[in-house]
Amino acid sequence: MSPEDGSSGRLDGRVAIVTGAGQTPGEEIGNGRATAILFARAGARVMLMDRDRDSAEATRAAIAEEAGEAIVAEGDVSVEADCRRVVSTAVEQFGRLDVVHNNVGIATGDGWAEWIEFEAWEQIMRVNAGGALLMAKAALPVMKEQQSGAITNVSSIASVVAGAETMRNPPLGYKSSKAAMNAITYALAGAYAPHGIRVNAILPGLINTPMGVDAAARAFGIDRDEYIRLRDETVPLKGGMGSAWDVANAALFLASDEARFITGVLLPVDGGQSARVG
Ligand SMILES: NC(=O)c1ccc[n+]([C@@H]2O[C@H](COP(=O)([O-])OP(=O)(O)OC[C@H]3O[C@@H](n4cnc5c(N)ncnc54)[C@H](O)[C@@H]3O)[C@@H](O)[C@H]2O)c1
Repeated sequence: MSPEDGSSGRLDGRVAIVTGAGQTPGEEIGNGRATAILFARAGARVMLMDRDRDSAEATRAAIAEEAGEAIVAEGDVSVEADCRRVVSTAVEQFGRLDVVHNNVGIATGDGWAEWIEFEAWEQIMRVNAGGALLMAKAALPVMKEQQSGAITNVSSIASVVAGAETMRNPPLGYKSSKAAMNAITYALAGAYAPHGIRVNAILPGLINTPMGVDAAARAFGIDRDEYIRLRDETVPLKGGMGSAWDVANAALFLASDEARFITGVLLPVDGGQSARVG
């Protein structure tokens, strides 16, 4: 069985929104696209939100090819009106809302404290942490009405481990935004538990996605294969980097009833990289 199988029926009758459901161009599949495909395979009807309509459309086509049900909603998670529109369209089209998977993440213009442009830091915070907050803000009234729901924030182990020098990661804005997502996760989990709403975060480590590999190698001017080698050797678990399907499988678990007693958890999916912290 390939790692992307084994999902059948686990989200039957559920409605999910996946943000950032398209992906940065590159060779491998991205986290949002893999998660949306897995949710649909598990029986969910999926709303694919992305600021890049064509890329979300490619995800929809992949789902339709497997006879899954998904619709595309162009929108920016850092714009409150877009988040409200996407949530209300999901409810209008599908009748309910069970899962919000906040997958959007950017690191554009990130840098160390001495040279980062404050506007770049603000924008990273706004999109990553602000986007997760705005999607929750739009979805929570619906979930409260239902007295059920699952929100999953895609954070990063960058929020809890130091950036690797070898990979030239300057994750100051990215790190701050993902740490804020962790705090939002804890705060919402506590506040909305009495309404049956679960809120968790996934902390991916080094994943072989276009954003993690292709875009980063381009930005740092490092040969793609060399960059892959550096990332692979940083991961403690045999086999090197994870794939988007590893993140998607964790997302499916947290969205499903198998995780019905799990809320307020920051789940590393990182091949043991954050275990080094302890
Ligand atoms: N790849 C890794 O190694 C890694 C590691 C840790 C965490 N993550 C996290 O996983 C998530 C997905 O990563 P990926 O590598 O699949 O990324 P990706 O860049 O391939 O996909 C992100 C998608 O988000 C969309 N997007 C960007 N800004 C948006 C906005 N404001 N509104 C709506 N859509 C927007 C993009 O168009 C793109 O389709 C991110 O949150 C990232 O931080 C990735």
